[in-house]
Amino acid sequence: MQKVDVIIIGAGAAGLMCAATAGYRGKQVLVLDNAKKAGRKILISGGGKCNFTNTKVDPSNFLCQNPHFVKSALARYPSSQFIELVERHGVAFEQRKHGQLFALNSAKDILDVLLTECDWAGVQIQLKTEITKINKLDQGFQLVTSAGEYQCDSLVVATGGLSMPKLGATPFGYKIAEQFGLKVLPTSAGLVPFTWHQGDKTLLEPLSGISMPVAVSSVSGVEFKEDMLLTHRGLSGPVMLQISSYWQAGEPIYINLLPELDVAATLNELREQQPKLSLKNALSRFLVKRFAETWLAQQKFADSPLNQISHSEWARLGQTLTRWPLLMNGTEGYRTAEVTLGGVDTNELSSKDMSTKKVAGLYFIGEVVDVSGWLGGFNFQWAWASGVACGLSE
Ligand code: FDA
Repeated sequence: MQKVDVIIIGAGAAGLMCAATAGYRGKQVLVLDNAKKAGRKILISGGGKCNFTNTKVDPSNFLCQNPHFVKSALARYPSSQFIELVERHGVAFEQRKHGQLFALNSAKDILDVLLTECDWAGVQIQLKTEITKINKLDQGFQLVTSAGEYQCDSLVVATGGLSMPKLGATPFGYKIAEQFGLKVLPTSAGLVPFTWHQGDKTLLEPLSGISMPVAVSSVSGVEFKEDMLLTHRGLSGPVMLQISSYWQAGEPIYINLLPELDVAATLNELREQQPKLSLKNALSRFLVKRFAETWLAQQKFADSPLNQISHSEWARLGQTLTRWPLLMNGTEGYRTAEVTLGGVDTNELSSKDMSTKKVAGLYFIGEVVDVSGWLGGFNFQWAWASGVACGLSE
C-alpha cells in the first residue's frame, strides 16, 4: 500500500493545476484518474485550440449560488498568472474578441504545460484507475482502487461535471460529497444549444446554417449580445450558449433581432421614404432575406406595402423585432453541454482553499463545485484558480 501526502482524483484542468502547485510545495502528490488519458476536455476545448482564459475576469462572469464565493480564489490567481505560465513555456497564443485567449497551434500545448509542470513538481499521475471505495481514517483517507490501496492525508476531488459523458464524465465527485454528508445542489446542463418545439422546427429548420448578431435576454433579465446560429435541432452560437445557463425549463427567451438599430425610428423613416416597399423587402435590408421571410410568416405578419400596415401591426412589428419571445423545447443536455450547472454546495467549502468545513483534509475543486463560468475561458480560469487555492492549502 502506497502512502502519500495528497491524492487528487481527476487528472483534468483543476486536478493537474492543484497537483503541480502542491508538488512545488514539497508535498508528495498522486493523481488518480479512470481515463486512459489526462486532460481530455482540455484537448477538445475551444475547437481544439483551448480558450484557456480571458484577459478580463470578474466574479460576475460566474454562476454560483453564493456569488461571493469565487472572489478569493480568482483574486489570488488572476488570469495574468496563467498567461505568464503559458508564456514561460513558450506556447504561442492569440487574443480573440471579448478578451478570449486561445492556443495558436493546439490545445495540446496547454495540456503539455500542465503535464510538464506536474513532472517538474514531482507529481505522480496514474491513469486507468477505478476507485471503488473511500474510507475516512482517524488521520486522512484510504482509497481502494483497481490498482491497489492508497492512503493520503489530504484528498482532493477534481472529477469535473457531467457534460460530455462520452469523454468520461461521471457523477463520482457528487457521490463522494454525499458519502461525507455534504450538500450537492441539483445539476443541469449549461452552455448548451437549445432545441425547437416541434411546431417551430417544421418552419425554422430550413433556416439552419444562418448566423446573425442578436441580443438575447432571459426572464431574469440577464442579456448577452453575440452571434446566434440556427441549426437543424434549434438555436446555438455563442449568444445561445451563454443564455442557456440562465434559462429555466418552460421559460421563454427574448431575442432582439436588430440590437444595433433604433428599430422604430429606422422603420418609420423607411416607410416615409418608400411607402410602397413590401414588409419582406424592408426587413431584408437588415436581416438575411430567407430568415426575414420565414420570421414574418411565423409571426403572422402579412407581406403588405409599408404604408398599408395598420397602426397596431406597426407597433407589434417594432415590439417583436426587438423582443421576440421564443419558447424552446429544451436543451441538447449533457451530450453537448460545455459545463454543468450546480454541484457541491459552496456553503460546504472554504472559499480560501476549497477545503470542506465538515471533513478535515477533504477538498473539492473545479467544475464539480457549484461554480460555472460564462463562455470565454472562464471555466478554465476557475479550474486554475480553485486548483491553485487548494494546492496552496496548509
Ligand atoms: P475535467 O472534466 O477537466 O476533469 C475531470 C477529470 O476527472 C477527468 O480527467 C476525468 O477523467 C476524471 N474523472 C471523472 N470521473 C472519475 C472517476 N470516477 N474516477 C477517476 N477519475 C474521474 N472551458 C473554457 O474555459 N474554455 C474552453 O475553450 C472550453 N471548451 C470546452 C469545450 C467542450 C466541448 C467542453 C465539454 C468543455 C469546455 N470547457 C471550456 C469547459 C472546461 O473543459 C471545464 O470547465 C474544465 O475542464 C473543468 O475542469 P475540471 O478539472 O474541473 O474537470
